[in-house]
Amino acid sequence: MRIAISTGGGDAPGLNAVIRAAVLSALNRGWEVLGVKRGFAGLLGEDEVVILTRDSVRGIAHLGGTILRTTNRGNPFHYPRKQEDGTYKEIDRSDELQENARQLGIDAVISIGGDGSLAIALRLCQKGMKIVGVPKTIDNDVSGTVTTFGFDTAVNTALEAIDRLHTTAESHDRVIVMEVMGRDTGFIALHSGLAGTADVILIPEIPYDIGKVCEKIAARDRAGRQFSIVVVAEGAFPHGGHASTLGESMPGQAKRVGGVADSIAREIQQITGKETRSLVLGHLQRGGMPTGYDRLLATRFGGAAVRAVAEGQWGHMVALQSPHIVMLSIAEVLKVPKRLDPNHDVVQTARETGISFGD
Ligand code: F6P
Repeated sequence: MRIAISTGGGDAPGLNAVIRAAVLSALNRGWEVLGVKRGFAGLLGEDEVVILTRDSVRGIAHLGGTILRTTNRGNPFHYPRKQEDGTYKEIDRSDELQENARQLGIDAVISIGGDGSLAIALRLCQKGMKIVGVPKTIDNDVSGTVTTFGFDTAVNTALEAIDRLHTTAESHDRVIVMEVMGRDTGFIALHSGLAGTADVILIPEIPYDIGKVCEKIAARDRAGRQFSIVVVAEGAFPHGGHASTLGESMPGQAKRVGGVADSIAREIQQITGKETRSLVLGHLQRGGMPTGYDRLLATRFGGAAVRAVAEGQWGHMVALQSPHIVMLSIAEVLKVPKRLDPNHDVVQTARETGISFGD
């Protein structure tokens, strides 16, 4: 048996722990393991395919990033190719990918990625490739799994930032608006905001009214709390509005979401007259060591993915349904995008402890 492993989409802390667990589990079954570099670029002649040995994965479980590299602009079905006039055209290179995999004697692929990469894995599977998925994203927006690895690390990074912002905001009687990642979901904002006792949390699942946000800040002022911390998910938007996007994306890449903290900070300062600062936590949330929780989950996912290959569970992905790891059909998982439930107890508790959602 010869399997290949690929990591696609934005990186997430824990990827290396998945790779390590999958490689060791496969080698211990007597299989061979190849690593496809930079998403599927290695199978398109745009990068390498390497042999993964015990030495390749030694001492990597605690490291952020991915030893296989990754990309979020390498969809083989819409591969961006530069034309002579400098513009890009998207072409379907999936047949070429399959042929290269066949030439390399690859029997099965473990594809580690978010919803975009899982959709690619599903299409390749429908074309006959034997693929098992491992869900990955710091945003926690893959259905069917309680959580994805990388999420806990991102929440902890955001939490540390909130703790630090509290002391400086209080010293200066300021409002500080911190933007966290999450694309169309507010999981990172909600979890870090509640754990970090933010005063306002703004998430895409609950559109906000800036007047309500300012009312909360003014009420704190009247109560003698002259500083406030606002945690905003990058995809949050006001009632009747839409999420802010950032500049031009690279060819083949999805639209970039973000920039909302700056405009919210300007509005808060204008309406309340309070000095307001903003920051975007950005890719700090994706970098660095995975937490113990993420390392363990990633390791469990890697081991389970190899078991799924052994059982021939093509087109399925591993998922956490506590306390068990289960296998779910990728097609079913992708039918429903995972969004935060505004009636979830975490939201309810946040409200009951005085946090405003600006609604
Ligand atoms: O999906 C993960 C994520 O980190 C999102 O939270 C964020 O919007 C996006 O990727 C950022 O992508 P990039 O690394 O291309 O800026």
